[in-house]
Amino acid sequence: MVKRYSAERKALAVALTMAGLLTAGSLALAHTDTRHASISEAKWKAPKRADKIRNPTKMTAANIAAGKAIFNTNCVMCHGVHGNGNGTAGAFLSVKPADFRKASFWKQGEGAIFWKLSNGKSPMPAFRDKLSRHKRWQVIDYMASAFKPKS
Ligand code: HEC
Repeated sequence: MVKRYSAERKALAVALTMAGLLTAGSLALAHTDTRHASISEAKWKAPKRADKIRNPTKMTAANIAAGKAIFNTNCVMCHGVHGNGNGTAGAFLSVKPADFRKASFWKQGEGAIFWKLSNGKSPMPAFRDKLSRHKRWQVIDYMASAFKPKS
């Protein structure tokens, strides 16, 4: 228990360092983007074709564990340990990071989630070149297992 906690703390520290680097750039962009976003496109939508993208990974313990490590390094600083958008860096962003615990978030389907994760939308970074397809699916497997509400 204690060991797991300190591992998470360590991951968080790494994440925060990265977030510092990321947000410096993102914030500058976000600043110019936000006003537009709130007027013309309140909600971020993936294109229709994204619905056809299927998750090739299985929700195995190994994929979920790998996804958790990816999430803690790359996402937790904005989206928070509980996936509710309360990450430390997220608090400084002009657009609030999504809350992955909401049923409405999962309604869009994993293909759309994969598309958004790959393409990003300032201040949310694009992960197409940062994480392999496999890793992007593993992080979605983890998010589904940890945050998706059980219906
Ligand atoms: C620099 C902060 C930041 C980081 C790092 C970040 N995100 Fe985000 N993310 C955001 C913000 C802000 C939004 C909301 C963007 C909007 O709605 O315009 C968002 C939105 C999203 C969405 C779409 C939410 C919706 O409502 O459909 C997904 C999916 C997502 N993030 C996944 C991830 C994953 C997975 C990672 C890590 C691999 C990650 N994000 C890393 C800031 C971040």
